[in-house]
Amino acid sequence: MAPVVQTINLHKTYMLGKVPVNALRGVDLEIESGDFVAIVGPSGSGKSTLLNLIGALDRPTEGKVIIDGVDVSTLNDDELAELRRRIGFVFQFFNLIPRLTASENVELPLAIAGVKKRQRKEKTSELLKAVGLSERAGHNPTELSGGEQQRVAIARALANEPRFLLLDEPTGNIDSKTADMLILLLRKLNEERGVTIIMITHDLNIAKQAKRIVRILDGRIIEETSNIAT
Ligand SMILES: Nc1ncnc2c1ncn2[C@@H]1O[C@H](COP(=O)(O)OP(=O)(O)OP(=O)(O)O)[C@@H](O)[C@H]1O
Ligand SMILES: [Mg+2]
Repeated sequence: MAPVVQTINLHKTYMLGKVPVNALRGVDLEIESGDFVAIVGPSGSGKSTLLNLIGALDRPTEGKVIIDGVDVSTLNDDELAELRRRIGFVFQFFNLIPRLTASENVELPLAIAGVKKRQRKEKTSELLKAVGLSERAGHNPTELSGGEQQRVAIARALANEPRFLLLDEPTGNIDSKTADMLILLLRKLNEERGVTIIMITHDLNIAKQAKRIVRILDGRIIEETSNIAT
């Protein structure tokens, strides 16, 4: 089976005025369906740049991103938008819509995708249950803790049954105990629902809960390890 995500000789150079910044310098990565990959590395090593390219949010300077066998660079704007709807994004700052309740936040992508109201409600409550937040469905983001907000963000990212989840420092703004619970949730989603997960973290204890750790330094992969212990 083709990998869900493949990057080939991925380079990204940003121009800061006239100064080139080589954020990625030849990244080859393959992610299979059902994988749970943690990307680790120091600040500035290129992690978010890599995630943005895998999420088709940005274009590489050189090299390719292939998703489900399709070279992303061949897609037009409509096809790119359609592809992004099949990817679940979760960011460090939860990015929930403040005026909507937890359940409305989760429902939103379903509404955008044109899912009928009754199915939307069913799917939303199933997802809130999966992340352990049925009791908080009616809360606004300001009425939720950081960890709860992040779980809503995960439920929302799962709404359209994405091919994979992309998480950029999902535990960056929550305390370590809450982070441990969140990582257990991600493991459960990976193991029980087969959700493919690609997660950036600077926290090694969090990374150790993934199936694979990819270590990045100065825009290159310097090490890949499998976690046998998990
Ligand atoms: N839009 C941009 N323009 C210019 N340089 C950029 C831009 N975005 C990122 N960079 C530079 O590219 C390099 C990689 O940045 P990136 O955001 O991918 O790092 P990171 O590994 O995610 O770091 P952190 O752990 O701090 O989030 C850094 O040196 C950064 O300064
Ligand atoms: Mg980053």
